[in-house]
Amino acid sequence: MAEQVQDETKRDFLALSAYVTLGVGTVAGTLGILSSLTPSADVLALASIEVDIASLEPGQAITAMWRGKPVFIRRRTAAQIDDARGVALSALKDPQTDAERTIEGKEEYLVVVGVCTHLGCIPKGQKEADVRGDFGGWYCPCHGSHYDISGRIRKGPAPANLQVPEYEFLSDTNIKIG
Ligand code: FES
Repeated sequence: MAEQVQDETKRDFLALSAYVTLGVGTVAGTLGILSSLTPSADVLALASIEVDIASLEPGQAITAMWRGKPVFIRRRTAAQIDDARGVALSALKDPQTDAERTIEGKEEYLVVVGVCTHLGCIPKGQKEADVRGDFGGWYCPCHGSHYDISGRIRKGPAPANLQVPEYEFLSDTNIKIG
């Protein structure tokens, strides 16, 4: 069931101008030709990606693939940021402020790994037509987990918030993940 949902969701992803930056350095010089053509799992695991977010309007979302997982990037509206920041920590199963989950000065953007923390399905909510659950973020239909606009678990069986990956802004329109 989980595999099927993941496959269906992957087909929905927007194409991205993302490219993989492999930390291979001198790897090509030290490995044989064959192995340099097929990077090892270790090398891939270290990969980072850069994502162009120039076309992302407030309220829109894009999905990048990083280390074999989807990463949700949502450009939030001012009202959504206010909503995320107005939630009392006591209301949260996995208490974390929105400020802890975003970069100061860039709180318009939320970047989270798009894998449900229950059993690993890919939540809905990236497309405008998607159901986004009771808290306006993402909804995992596998077993009914609702995430808010900060990617925090608010209802359902998932035990933890959507993971925030390591990322940084290289410019106003370019994010490096990993
Ligand atoms: S995998 Fe998301 S609710 Fe079960």
